[in-house]
Amino acid sequence: MVVTSCPTWGQLLATSILISTCLAEPIPHTSEVQLRALPNSPSGDYAPAVVPCPQDRPTVRSAQKLSQQETSWLERRRKATVDPMIKLVERNKIDGFDAGAYIRNAADNDLSSLPNIAIAVSGGGYRALMNGAGFLAAADDRTTDSTGPGGIGGLLQASTYLAGLSGGGWLVGSIFANNFSSVEALRNGLSPDTDVWNFTNSIFAGPGESFLQKTGYWFDIVEQVGDKADAGFETSITDYWGRALSYQLINAPKGGPAYTFSSIAEVDHFRNAETPFPILVADGRAPGERIISLNTTVFEFNPYEMGSFDPTVFAFVPTKYLASNFSNGVIPKDGSCVNGFDQLGFVMGTSSSLFNQFLLQNISAADTKIPAIVVSAIEKILASISNDNNDIAQYAPNPFYKYNPSTNPSAESPELSLVDGGEDLQNIPLHPLIQPTRKVDVIFAVDSSADTPYNWPNGTALRASYDRSLLSDIANGTLFPPVPDANTFINSRLNQRPTFFGCDVRNFTSGNGAPPLVIYIPNAPYSAYSNVSTFTPEYTSSERNNIIQNGYDVATMGNNTVDGSWTTCVSCAIFSRSWARTNTAVPQQCVDCFDRFCWDGRLNSSSTSLTENYEPGFIVGGEGASGTKDNAASGLSGMGMGMAVAGVLSLSLAL
Ligand SMILES: *[C@@H]1O[C@H](CO)[C@@H](O)[C@H](O)[C@H]1NC(C)=O
Ligand SMILES: *[C@@H]1O[C@H](CO)[C@@H](O)[C@H](O)[C@H]1NC(C)=O
Ligand SMILES: *[C@@H]1O[C@H](CO)[C@@H](O)[C@H](O)[C@H]1NC(C)=O
Ligand SMILES: *[C@@H]1O[C@H](CO)[C@@H](O)[C@H](O)[C@H]1NC(C)=O
Ligand SMILES: *[C@@H]1O[C@H](CO)[C@@H](O)[C@H](O)[C@H]1NC(C)=O
Ligand SMILES: *[C@@H]1O[C@H](CO)[C@@H](O)[C@H](O)[C@H]1NC(C)=O
Ligand SMILES: *[C@@H]1O[C@H](CO)[C@@H](O)[C@H](O)[C@H]1NC(C)=O
Ligand SMILES: *[C@@H]1O[C@H](CO)[C@@H](O)[C@H](O)[C@H]1NC(C)=O
Ligand SMILES: *[C@@H]1O[C@H](CO)[C@@H](O)[C@H](O)[C@H]1NC(C)=O
Ligand SMILES: *[C@@H]1O[C@H](CO)[C@@H](O)[C@H](O)[C@H]1NC(C)=O
Ligand SMILES: *[C@@H]1O[C@H](CO)[C@@H](O)[C@H](O)[C@H]1NC(C)=O
Repeated sequence: MVVTSCPTWGQLLATSILISTCLAEPIPHTSEVQLRALPNSPSGDYAPAVVPCPQDRPTVRSAQKLSQQETSWLERRRKATVDPMIKLVERNKIDGFDAGAYIRNAADNDLSSLPNIAIAVSGGGYRALMNGAGFLAAADDRTTDSTGPGGIGGLLQASTYLAGLSGGGWLVGSIFANNFSSVEALRNGLSPDTDVWNFTNSIFAGPGESFLQKTGYWFDIVEQVGDKADAGFETSITDYWGRALSYQLINAPKGGPAYTFSSIAEVDHFRNAETPFPILVADGRAPGERIISLNTTVFEFNPYEMGSFDPTVFAFVPTKYLASNFSNGVIPKDGSCVNGFDQLGFVMGTSSSLFNQFLLQNISAADTKIPAIVVSAIEKILASISNDNNDIAQYAPNPFYKYNPSTNPSAESPELSLVDGGEDLQNIPLHPLIQPTRKVDVIFAVDSSADTPYNWPNGTALRASYDRSLLSDIANGTLFPPVPDANTFINSRLNQRPTFFGCDVRNFTSGNGAPPLVIYIPNAPYSAYSNVSTFTPEYTSSERNNIIQNGYDVATMGNNTVDGSWTTCVSCAIFSRSWARTNTAVPQQCVDCFDRFCWDGRLNSSSTSLTENYEPGFIVGGEGASGTKDNAASGLSGMGMGMAVAGVLSLSLAL
């Protein structure tokens, strides 16, 4: 947009020419944590741009194998996980088993027996971001006291993959956009009032205090999205949403409009394989489709590639070259190469496009404090976007245009429509992690879904992934351990403490091997009511900190106070699949762990007063904790556990 002079308010309203330079520069979250991905968009701003095609023109490749880049990165990453893994399992010792020696031997002599760990963080808006952040804080050896007794610090450093979806994608995206900063650093900043995650002002109000700052925020967003449209690219509400999100999650002026998802691959931390491999998930919406069904194509974004392992598309394209003119997998001579379409906030917005509604429905709400002049300018633009498709992110040109036309639902469509990764009910991003080619052994699946009336999870996300694994047309070789119905989750308290699914590899006899062991980490009230509504747009620092702390307490079972064996059982979970591969006898302490934490296949599907009004009280205590403490035994019985650690159990339910 070329601007010669500053318009008046009236002109602004009439023409939607929005020039932030005519306003006071908005003050973004000023943090001294100068940590970023890279602002490498060729336009230097939000708009993608045509670039000269490289000598080797980018192509679409079949998903039969992992990419060459991921494969060679993994060689380095798997080695980099060895030391952190040894530290973790030597701290959380298994009696009678030399865990350190086992891992050293695997690293030196037989890499295929080295445990391969992944973490998946569910959707659920800010609740999912904050609760997931609590888990990652507990798993991160950089977090204060996370490697003390009862801690699981180092699990993050020992992990190969870290996947996020929707609100969980904001978490993963924010961490990687900010140079793999720790949760603690993003939460605290380096000095008072410099925190990156400042949710005091809602995403609608924007950062800053003054009228001009707030006005500037929305004018900038409208201008940035306008630039993308002016450059010839289709825009959707997701562009506005992703931009707004970036101001809250990316610590750079104006929400880092030039930061791309693919730039993560250029950052030293990632290049040196010092971080896990980040993956964000979105669902495909076939032309004409409205409701997303379980067999919809699931797409992933990673720093190298975007695409799907599903047999419909079964292909990947370089993330950096999204929006280039691919046709049947190649860019024809007269087609252009494009960079900068994979803008980081846009990718986070794609994975969370369900929140487009949130933006639409709140933008004009009186209490959002968005200046009226901005509201009308934005509404004018939004009005031009088709209403029944307002939850989509438009990827045009379609990277898989004319590719796999016999099975690809969007093969004939010039655009690929993507929606929130949770719309198929698989609200935990497990899909990329159960792909047999990735050979993941164990997934820590953090679930902050709002399934019950009070916003607690009841296993729906796991059931969706299990059910999908049974749909032979779409599963394409993926396996998933069986999980029970929602009533069993609630009656047997499988949603109040970590629960392992798929413990016994002998249960998978199809010859396709076994799926990863799934360690379900459900959001539950350990020390705070972390069940805030998905659509709450603002949080005080103490609300934020309490929910992050609760996620930490869930991850550590209150530093082992709820179950003294928990951290050792995490070590057992890490080794379980590897032991099966190397025919190693399971140490007795781990036999006990699996007895305590594995779902034993028993159902309690009855509708009870508990399932009808699931309203759990604090598990380790918290503000106003007053629940009765009479449910410890029943909380454990459904899991085939004996009465645990006398005295320390305080699993309380406000019945
Ligand atoms: C990213 O973090 C690493 C170490 O944590 C640091 O050495 C590096 O300078 C940081 N990069 C930027 C651009 O801040
Ligand atoms: C969050 O931002 C607001 C201004 O938008 C500021 O007043 C407040 O001090 C910040 N809070 C923290 C904890 O940084
Ligand atoms: C998904 O399932 C529906 C019916 O359940 C079917 O019509 C459709 O063809 C399936 N799509 C794919 C890609 O398998
Ligand atoms: C997955 O789907 C692709 C494309 O249809 C097919 O070539 C491949 O063999 C399938 N893989 C498995 C394990 O079924
Ligand atoms: C390339 O994509 C642009 C944007 O969609 C489109 O306008 C143009 O016609 C395409 N060119 C070719 C050769 O496909
Ligand atoms: C904001 O959006 C959410 C989700 O669409 C909706 O439930 C809520 O009522 C809206 N709030 C206001 C103040 O309009
Ligand atoms: C479980 O969650 C689903 C939504 O995810 C909900 O429809 C169902 O009613 C819930 N069931 C129970 C018993 O909470
Ligand atoms: C099923 O769950 C209910 C509610 O927690 C409990 O009262 C009942 O004893 C359980 N039944 C069995 C067989 O475990
Ligand atoms: C667990 O330990 C951490 C780190 O020392 C601490 O912040 C937290 O309050 C502890 N939680 C409980 C429930 O004791
Ligand atoms: C695994 O197999 C055993 C033996 O067949 C069975 O008792 C158990 O219920 C199965 N577990 C699950 C979770 O299906
Ligand atoms: C959070 O859960 C508690 C009980 O588990 C319930 O009383 C409260 O109403 C819930 N809050 C929200 C916002 O759903």
